[in-house]
Amino acid sequence: MTGAAVRSVGWWWRFGTEMLRRAGIEGAERDAQLILASHLKADPGTLRLHLDRELTASEFSEAGQQAYQTDLQSRASGRPVSKILGARAFWNSEFYVNDDVLDPRPDTELLIETALQQPFTRALDLGTGSGCIAITLALESRGSTVLATDISEKALNVARRNARATSVEAKVEVHLSDWFGAVDGQFDLIVSNPPYIAADEMAGLAPDLAFDPREALTDGADGLSAYRVITAKAPKHLVPGGRLLVEIGWRQGEIVADMFKAAGFDAVRVLPDLAGHDRVVAGVWRG
Ligand SMILES: C[S@@+](CC[C@H](N)C(=O)[O-])C[C@H]1O[C@@H](n2cnc3c(N)ncnc32)[C@H](O)[C@@H]1O
Repeated sequence: MTGAAVRSVGWWWRFGTEMLRRAGIEGAERDAQLILASHLKADPGTLRLHLDRELTASEFSEAGQQAYQTDLQSRASGRPVSKILGARAFWNSEFYVNDDVLDPRPDTELLIETALQQPFTRALDLGTGSGCIAITLALESRGSTVLATDISEKALNVARRNARATSVEAKVEVHLSDWFGAVDGQFDLIVSNPPYIAADEMAGLAPDLAFDPREALTDGADGLSAYRVITAKAPKHLVPGGRLLVEIGWRQGEIVADMFKAAGFDAVRVLPDLAGHDRVVAGVWRG
């Protein structure tokens, strides 16, 4: 029985594409490709080369076919592929993600790019979520160590798992903390991508945000509370010449830059992302 054919790779791909198209999913073909490749334990890029190949029951058992269809249904209901497969590419690594963490966004790579423009040895990542920022900084900056904190113990478990998977657990320390509440010592770089969506903007958001934890998206107020705490308390935790970098919502550049200046930061800059939207505010603590 195990050698019997169970239709071709192309058939299953078309089946998935159709199902997602009917559900109105944009990029249905690509998403079906990623989901099928994961079930066949194949590289997504190679599926196209094997469209006519008949799969055997040992390669794609009935249980495997069922699981594929369950994942397709999940995608059809709006869940992002990353949360279905438990994997998200960010910078040069793949991160495990689940419902306990924000799905890392490509926009956040600007924060990494800006951080890496100058050397650092001791960094702090506030609100680490999956750990994507802290771990990327540790991977990219030889000789650095990073303290990664979050208020969510469940998120920290994901960050720990990612630190192990990328072999940086000796360089990335993961701690429970309400912003600076349980943070000791000083750093030459502090970074954060905090929740910055105002409570009254939550209703109009893109549907895939429904799969991120609410406390990762909004402060339940005006979207600026984290910046007030971070800009006020960061100076105590920065060495002279240390940098503070935060990701922001595209309309928050001016107001967050003003908070940096009011807290005594120099060289305050608002940096745009590739789409031209304000995305990062950076400042230097002269001490
Ligand atoms: C926008 S997510 C960013 C996650 C990750 N750094 C990233 O860029 O993908 C914000 C994170 O801040 C955390 N957070 C929210 N309130 C916090 C607080 N008071 N103290 C520390 N972390 C907090 C959330 O749990 C969430 O993981």
